[in-house]
Parts: sequence; structure tokens; C-alpha cells
Amino acid sequence: MCGIVGYKGKDEACDILINALKKLEYRGYDSAGIAIWHNNKIAVGRKKGKVDDLRKVISNGNFKGTMGLAHTRWATHGEPSERNAHPHRVRDVVVVHNGIIENYIELKEKLRNEGHKFASDTDTEVIPHLIISHLDKGKDFIEAVRLTLKELHGSYAVGIMREKEQIMIAARKESPLIVGVGNKEFFIASDAPAVIDRTNRFIFLEDNDMAVFRDDEMFLMNTDGEKVERKIHTVNWTGAMAEKGGYRHFMLKEIFEQPRAISETLLGRFKEEKGQVDFEELALPDLKKVKKIWMVACGTSYHACMIGKHMFEANLRIPVETDIASEFRYRNPILSENDILILVSQSGETADTIAAMKEGKRNGVYTLSICNVLGSTLARDADGVIFTHAGPEIGVASTKAFTTQISVFFMLMLHMAKKLGKMDTDEIRDMIAEIKKIPHKIQTILDHISPLEELARRYMTCKDFLYIGRGIHYPTVMEGALKLKEISYIHAEAYAAGEMKHGPIALIDENLPVVVVSPRDQTYQKTCGNIEEVLARRGRLILFTDDPSHEMADRVDAVFTVPETIYELLPILCVVPLQLIAYYIANLLGTDVDQPRNLAKSVTVE
Ligand code: F6R
Repeated sequence: MCGIVGYKGKDEACDILINALKKLEYRGYDSAGIAIWHNNKIAVGRKKGKVDDLRKVISNGNFKGTMGLAHTRWATHGEPSERNAHPHRVRDVVVVHNGIIENYIELKEKLRNEGHKFASDTDTEVIPHLIISHLDKGKDFIEAVRLTLKELHGSYAVGIMREKEQIMIAARKESPLIVGVGNKEFFIASDAPAVIDRTNRFIFLEDNDMAVFRDDEMFLMNTDGEKVERKIHTVNWTGAMAEKGGYRHFMLKEIFEQPRAISETLLGRFKEEKGQVDFEELALPDLKKVKKIWMVACGTSYHACMIGKHMFEANLRIPVETDIASEFRYRNPILSENDILILVSQSGETADTIAAMKEGKRNGVYTLSICNVLGSTLARDADGVIFTHAGPEIGVASTKAFTTQISVFFMLMLHMAKKLGKMDTDEIRDMIAEIKKIPHKIQTILDHISPLEELARRYMTCKDFLYIGRGIHYPTVMEGALKLKEISYIHAEAYAAGEMKHGPIALIDENLPVVVVSPRDQTYQKTCGNIEEVLARRGRLILFTDDPSHEMADRVDAVFTVPETIYELLPILCVVPLQLIAYYIANLLGTDVDQPRNLAKSVTVE
């Protein structure tokens, strides 16, 4: 949560920072601020609301200079307001921060005893006060910052400047921060898309790294005061990928990007003649010894794990446990040496998923992350990583991340099936052929979306929705319901279809739309039974199926048909219309689709 950006170079910083901040808005958008250094003066502007509201504050011409910092906030400590917005300034020091300072109460107390007075409710404000405290004791700026960082418990990504010196300092611990290296200019940013239009060369700072920008140079050290070296990586994302490209919203663009995104996920993985899916780079443990696979994630990525479990258990016959990352460590999971822990995350920075990885590492299990963002914590710190290659996902509601994660699970399952001798070459070849057809099949859905827009118009005024599905379609409907609630603010609940009779059936009447996913597979007959139960109570059914002659088609309110595929891949095809329905309803209701209220894309607090 919270987006940070910084610039030190030859051009005017203000426009660069505001443009970059706009691209980080998905990380938080309840207040924003900027600080520009010029001739030993720092101009600070802050505003409750979005980056566009901040633009009004800085339109007075006072924000001129070639070095600066900016921040977009998702409130953790203290309500969204101007006084709690970053940058926080104490005397001549300004700080922007993402993360949580866990010992801020204790530090505040200590600083108050030294005579410091606080102007906000945030944890962040202790940082500039601590720096001032060290400066007052005669330390130089860099040393004052280093000593301050050593005192902080919790997580931080920070950008810091001081009026008296033309120096900018960035540092991170357990919150993302990267350094962009341009032509005689440097950037700091919470992630690459923010500044990708200016550079594609990045240093991924590691925990306890400090980057010091002085004169035309940058040097790296750690909070122990030692010099460190980090590699410069070239990222193959482009500026256009982080733009809307003619779509009304990023979410819609990202839904439509799914055929291309999945093609990228699959690229270079198959050796079809050998019936093989290549993940040799992973150095997985001896699969024959693996007793259990764990799949852990949050939100949409967790739903992908639930689908992964269905695929793995059915085809590999290895027990799989899925867990919501925020719950994982509290139940003291019984991890054994020969287990594999798979962590799934679009951002690679979700705090609870990182904590789950640490739990796995503490227990000596092999950790494998499935991530979209290069250089992210989960991508770097897990024992192995598979990138989804979906391209930047900017809409807060996850779409292409989900379908690419499922694609990775499918390929990994085939890779393991081969190693374990669970499938023969022909079976694997057939399955590879199926997934290769998926991008085209999604395109077919996307080419016929007008019935979904029509459905959205019919149902947009409903206050509640029930989503039901069985087997692998249960996580699919959970994902559909999550999409609807997060962007339209309509209450939507997902149930395993068989669970309906155990309570939620009491909700059904002529006003409640029930979304059901019922393809012609092993779940078909039983789900038809559940549809009957809804019809008997005059419920309004919206059916998603791959079967144009579904036996319930004439009796439900509406039917949408997706192309056929194998059981394991049906969630990819069935979720696309569910994403679109949610999108169209939200769009008709006029909500902020890309930045829904109360949310942030990258949840870097536990
Ligand atoms: C929902 C959504 C969230 C994320 C969750 C995990 O649309 O985007 O539920 O899926 O916050 O995020 P990552 O995948 O970045 O770990």
C-alpha cells in the first residue's frame, strides 16, 4: 500500500513525479503529496484525495526544481486527511514512507521526552523526528538517516530529502522500492511501471539497502554502513503497457489482454515432441519424496490456489493443502522437510504471503513463488520462481493475473506428472494442445460480449447476488463474486453448490439472482439438481456453461455459453464472462472501477 516515487536529474521533477504518481495510484489513493527541492528550499504540497486533487495544490508555480519526492497514500495510521498525508516534514527534513513502523508509539514517547512535537496521527512522522534528533546530536545527514533506520521495527520503503543538502536518500526493508537508472537521472519508485516511460533499467533494492543520490551519482550502502553492489536489470515492459490504450478502464483493458497474457505465460515452456513442460530452472526437490504440497496466497491469487489444488490432486495424487496467507502461520502448519510450499502473488509484495514464505523457510521446505512482478520480494526470496509474464496489472481488481496463474498451475502440474510418471507422453501432449487453444477460446468470448452488457443492465439494481459452483468451479464462482463485490460494492456471496441446502437456500426468492457455473463435466448432474432447487423457490438463475444444449437452458433467466475445454482449464474460460459482468455492472453504476473505495492493489501490511 502507498506509492512512492522520487526523481533526481536534469529535468523539472514536478511533472515527472506527478505522472509517475498517477501510475502508482492503484497502491492507495486517499491522499497525495509532493516535495520539490530547489536552492536549499523544499516546497511541500499535500492534499486529501487523489493525485488529480494534488495537481490543484501545485499549480501555483512554486514547485520548480530537479529533485523531488511524491507519495500516494492508503491510510493505515490516522484517517485520510491533509495532516496525515505524506511527505511529512520536520524542520528541514521531509520523508515519504510506505510500510508500518511497529515501534512508533515507543519512539514517539522517547522523542516527546526530548521535546519533539507531532503534527499528525501517523507512524511515519517519527522518521523525520528521529533524523532531526540525530542531526541535532551532530551527525551528518546520511549517518542520521542510517541511525534512524536502525531504530525502526517493522517495514519501510522511504524517500528522504533535506533542505540544506542536494542529497536524496532511499531505503527499504520489507516494503518494495526500486531505483530506476536513466541517462544522467535517477528514479525511485514502488514499482517499475511508474517510471517505465523514462527508463527500463532498474536496481531492485534489498532489505536494509540505502541508495544515496548525490551530485550526478548514486551509491549503495546498507544500514550497517557497508557499501553494497547491486545488479542493474533491464525490464522488458514498455510505457504503452502501463497506459489504458484506448480502453475506458485498466480493468477492461486487462480483461481483453488475457489471450495475449496467457500466450506469454506459455511461451517457451513446451517440448511437445517429448510431451514435456520445461521448468528445469527450478531445481525442485525430488518429487517422489514429496508428501504434501501447500498452496498459499490472498484474495484472487488464493482462488487460483484452490483451482491448482483440484488439478494437482486429481492428476498427481499428492495431497494439497490450500491456505489463506493471513491465516497460515496462526494455525502452526505441520510442514515437513519434503513438502513444497507454493506462494502465489501478482505483486510479489503481499505481506501475508511473504510471511507465509518465511514460515516455510523456517521449517526448511522448498518455497516456490508464482509471481508477475520481476524483482518483487516473493520472486527474489523464494527458492524458485515462475513468472506469469502477464505484463503490468494496474486495475485494482485482478483479472489477467488470475488466468495466468491458473495457466502456470496447469503447466506445473504437467511438468510434475511427467516426472512422477503419472501421465504418459501422449496424455501430456493432448493437454498441452488444449492449453494452447485457450487464448483463442478467450478471444471468442471477448468477441461476443454484448449479451453480457445486456445482462449487466438487467441485474445492476439488485442488492445481493449468490454465486454457486461445484468442484473446480467453486473457486471460479468465488472469484466471480469477489470481482462483483469489490468493484460494484454489491453484496455477492459464493457457495459450493452442494452447500446451498445447508443454509443459504433460505435466501432464495424471486429477487435474488443466482449465478451458476455448470459445464458438462463431472459436476454437471449434481449442479443441475441445485439449479432445480433454486427454480423451485422462484430464484432468478444466470447460467454459465460450455454446453449449448444444457438441460436447464430453457428454464433459467439467462444463459451464457463459453467454448468447451478440458475440466482443468474450464475455470479460465468461465471466469472471463464473470469478470466482464462485474465490470459492466460497476461501470453502469458509475463506481471507480480501477480504484474501488477502501482498496489498494498491493497489500504490503499484514
Ligand atoms: C482482487 C485482488 C486481491 C488480490 C490480493 C493478493 O481482485 O486483486 O484480492 O488478489 O490482494 O494480491 P497479490 O496477488 O498481489 O498477492
